[in-house]
Amino acid sequence: MILDDLLRQPRERRRLLLSTCIFLAVISFLGLLSSAVWTSQSTTFLFPDDPSPTPTHPALSEAAFDSTLLSSNFINGSPTPHFRDNLRPGMKYITSWISAGWTNDVMTYMNLIYLGIITERIPVIPMFIPTHIGGHVPPINFGEVFDIPRLRKALRIPIIEWHEIKNLSAHERDEIGCWSVWQAVQERDPEPRNSFLVDLLTLDISYTKAPTWIKLLPHFEHDPHASFWSLASLAFPEIRADNLLPPMPSRNEHVVLPPDEQLLCYDYLYYVCGNQPYEFDFDYSPAWRFVGQHMHWTPKLERLRDEYVKKAIGVEEAQATPPWIAIHMRHGDFATWCTGMALSDCFAPVSVIARRVEEVKKEILDRKGISVQHVIMTSDEKNATWWEEVTSQGWYRIDHSNTAELHGGWFPVLIDAAIQSGGLGFVGTDRSTMSILARRRTQAWQDGSHRIVRWGKLGADDH
Ligand SMILES: *[C@@H]1O[C@H](CO)[C@@H](O)[C@H](O)[C@H]1NC(C)=O
Ligand SMILES: *[C@@H]1O[C@H](CO)[C@@H](O)[C@H](O)[C@H]1NC(C)=O
Repeated sequence: MILDDLLRQPRERRRLLLSTCIFLAVISFLGLLSSAVWTSQSTTFLFPDDPSPTPTHPALSEAAFDSTLLSSNFINGSPTPHFRDNLRPGMKYITSWISAGWTNDVMTYMNLIYLGIITERIPVIPMFIPTHIGGHVPPINFGEVFDIPRLRKALRIPIIEWHEIKNLSAHERDEIGCWSVWQAVQERDPEPRNSFLVDLLTLDISYTKAPTWIKLLPHFEHDPHASFWSLASLAFPEIRADNLLPPMPSRNEHVVLPPDEQLLCYDYLYYVCGNQPYEFDFDYSPAWRFVGQHMHWTPKLERLRDEYVKKAIGVEEAQATPPWIAIHMRHGDFATWCTGMALSDCFAPVSVIARRVEEVKKEILDRKGISVQHVIMTSDEKNATWWEEVTSQGWYRIDHSNTAELHGGWFPVLIDAAIQSGGLGFVGTDRSTMSILARRRTQAWQDGSHRIVRWGKLGADDH
């Protein structure tokens, strides 16, 4: 029934038809939910050990649903020395590795989970490994940063962490075949993308170069993006079979294995998009909409964020945290883009940042009637004179002098990221992925206002 037909019916009949349509829509939606994902041929795995309890109370059914998504329903038991011993026969999984700075790694895991959704496979998420924060800091589990129970519930899919499957302290080597995306999307580096994670997971990987048609912009050497659905197609038997090539021998045992069908793996999923490169900056970004916006911080990290904000502003612990505007100014290695000019010309001066802060303040006042008093600067800048300029604006600085000692080496950056996403307003740095995610979180979680400050030459943000 098309809408035009419906509208042409007499009113009574229209009402009847309309309710029939709604009824059918509800039925088919329920049908979708129950047949849901993670089905393989005739068996439904979403509710593997669950005799479909008949809920009598809405709260009960929620709880029952949550418990069906627990990892224990999708693995055999406690972590085993070899990961295969813990995968359930008939269930299909997907994983990948990371090798960039932390924010880009977060985006990579968002991409991995999104690819899990569209391939109907259970995402198996590795840890975060330190790259920008120093090699002496131990890895941190995904679940210590992001609230996995909340994420599972929002996405209605199981999400597993590597340490739940494999006993990583046993250091038993596992051989596996994976697709190399990296070899297919760029020509400078003939090797698969390397990741320190592979050693931590004690994997010996035999790579198969993915077909070059996965590349979004064919033969364009300046962009290495692949599209989600081109990668997803390799997860299914027909396209997989059509594209198999002789795999490269693995590094340790020189085994040769085709891409694994139960635990599907790709070397690197940072450069993946639905429609255009660097998509997290755009409102339609599927990885953000279907995954990223549901990746909330753990309750512990949210508590720490509030504690640090209150301490910086000078609010009693027992009092509520007042609203704030967060600034993220990335300097540090961005200086490498400032060749041939003084850094003070290249980076946006504090007066320019202040102009954007005022715009954000005004917008919040206009939109919400709230006058935000507190502005918090987060930055990797080390220059004390610059920080004096910042605090002379009346802006606050977070004291991280003993954060690493108290909470671990990851927490200065994690707390900063949580602060950047928890304000009613956000002012960020152009070209910084950390600012991109902070902006999107501020919009999605706080309905907040934002500005992104341009830099790179004198007067870059004058507009
Ligand atoms: C993991 O392996 C280590 C080293 O072999 C062992 O001491 C530990 O008990 C194992 N943990 C589990 C949960 O099996
Ligand atoms: C430190 O910051 C101040 C103020 O922004 C600037 O004038 C000065 O050149 C900076 N010093 C260095 C060593 O970059």
